[in-house]
Amino acid sequence: MKKQKTSLLISLIPYILIALVLIVGALWIIDKPTPSAEENTRALVGGPFSLVDHQGRTVTDQDFKGQNMLIYFGYTFCPDVCPTELQVMTEAMALLKNTSVTPIFITVDPERDTTEVLAQYVPLFHPDLIGLGGTVEQVVAVKKAYRVWAEKVQEPGSSDYLVDHTSIIYLMDRDGRYLGHFSYGTKPEDMARRIEALIE
Ligand code: NI
Repeated sequence: MKKQKTSLLISLIPYILIALVLIVGALWIIDKPTPSAEENTRALVGGPFSLVDHQGRTVTDQDFKGQNMLIYFGYTFCPDVCPTELQVMTEAMALLKNTSVTPIFITVDPERDTTEVLAQYVPLFHPDLIGLGGTVEQVVAVKKAYRVWAEKVQEPGSSDYLVDHTSIIYLMDRDGRYLGHFSYGTKPEDMARRIEALIE
């Protein structure tokens, strides 16, 4: 009787081992840290770009190395959303105590937002605001890098058009990597507080 029990145990050993491997494996998978939404976005938003600034100079992401960037995509003919967001951006900047950011406006309408148009527009909001445009291809590339969507909407009975577009303000770190973003409606005080928390 006793011998039978022992042999039964021995015959079960491979199964016990398999069960143990499965349990340990499952625990390892469960325990593996899953990347947070912020980390995922970090990998997805941003990247190299080459554009033309409102003074006609070619600039790339490398020119902003060492600076935290606050980037907004929009267009100068935008009737309401863009001016509002740029205003919020500059109000938030004025509230920063422990850090500074370089404010950047990238046009999603490069055909109308020429260097001259950008040069007239950006100082209306902030003396340091940098307007960036360029060729349609250059803007398509930077929009893709920053996951920005924009689409022309023809006004009925008018030769003018509007551009529906993503309205997000991006905060990028000194190496051009995503730190965080602010959606439409964020208050300047909240934006300033979070910028200071996100920038070490
Ligand atoms: Ni707009």
